[in-house]
Amino acid sequence: TEIDIDAEDLDLGGYPHYMAKEIQEQPESVERIIRGRLDDRFGVARLDGLNLTPRELRGFSRVKILGCGSAYYVGQVGATMIEELARIPADAEAASEFRYRNPIIEADTLYIAVSQSGETIDTAFAVEEIKRKGGRVVGLVNVVGSTIARACDGGVYLHAGPEIAVASTKALTNMAVGFALIALTLGRVRDLSNADGQRIIDAIRALPGQIKSILDFEPEIAEHAKTVAVAKSLFFVGRVRGYPVAREGAQKFKEISYRHAEAYQTSELKHGPLALIDEALPTVAVVPSDELTGRNLAAVQQIKARGGAVLAVTHENVDFGELDVPRIVVPKTEPELDPILLTIPLQLLAYHAALTLGYDIDKPRNLAKSVTVE
Ligand code: AGP
Repeated sequence: TEIDIDAEDLDLGGYPHYMAKEIQEQPESVERIIRGRLDDRFGVARLDGLNLTPRELRGFSRVKILGCGSAYYVGQVGATMIEELARIPADAEAASEFRYRNPIIEADTLYIAVSQSGETIDTAFAVEEIKRKGGRVVGLVNVVGSTIARACDGGVYLHAGPEIAVASTKALTNMAVGFALIALTLGRVRDLSNADGQRIIDAIRALPGQIKSILDFEPEIAEHAKTVAVAKSLFFVGRVRGYPVAREGAQKFKEISYRHAEAYQTSELKHGPLALIDEALPTVAVVPSDELTGRNLAAVQQIKARGGAVLAVTHENVDFGELDVPRIVVPKTEPELDPILLTIPLQLLAYHAALTLGYDIDKPRNLAKSVTVE
């Protein structure tokens, strides 16, 4: 008897799309990036691949993160983690812009190149530019032995496993976890206490289980996706830690749902875009339970008052009071790590919107998995 299975079905492991499979793989892929890298005795991460001594790690007075697209947005998440945990000025920039503006390369800056494929030409050229000018650059890369991984002075492999879908999910989550490990490393050679290091380690260790609990809500998130998929245009808003989450949420929507999705800092709405709000323009608002909850809720209230529908990605204890706002609730972690979990439902939201709209999820039009030409 013949068995009618082709190789692609096997690779898909029973999932309808690689994106669906890769979203579901995240609890295990996060396990892989942290395996063997957490040291409870000293509340530190073990990142030998960085090839940096504690003295060298202490010597950096700035961090500059470079990546393209979603890797750039997750770089913003990483920069905030580094500033919060290590108190070193850090920022992220699109690698594609960086190398065209004759960047100033400083000896006491740690440059971090972030890439799933390790083959993105703009990121690879940014690495070359840094090295040519004598800067120190490490990689946060998924594909072992890739161009960027080889060009860097050291790095942290993501161990996310192969990622096939053009819309990146599990690699981005591992990038964010990788940044948490780097922030911990930079923090613990400075003023981050052992106890605070341990607090972050415990939280990192809990992430796989927490991600799994978000994935269990997929049917509810799919229902929300059907509602937002009808809109021609959407806002994604968040602030500080939540802003790169909003950027990534909008990015996923654009890539696979072909809907105009604009990310904005919630705090900036009043300075212009609030004029766009009406019944036809829904907003996905990132409203974590943190020091900005009250301000985020006030913005939600302003959007609602202008007739705009809001879908909130939030934590259990955030009190929306009288506001009629559907919610996707994620588990709370340490505030510095909140962006990692807040992003997961937005992957599912975009996936199910694209599914509802009937688009080719794994191979969106006009896009390639890695951009190796300019
Ligand atoms: C993510 O969903 C996108 N496909 C895209 O923005 C991607 O993150 C970017 O092209 C960078 O790719 P890389 O991580 O392989 O360098």
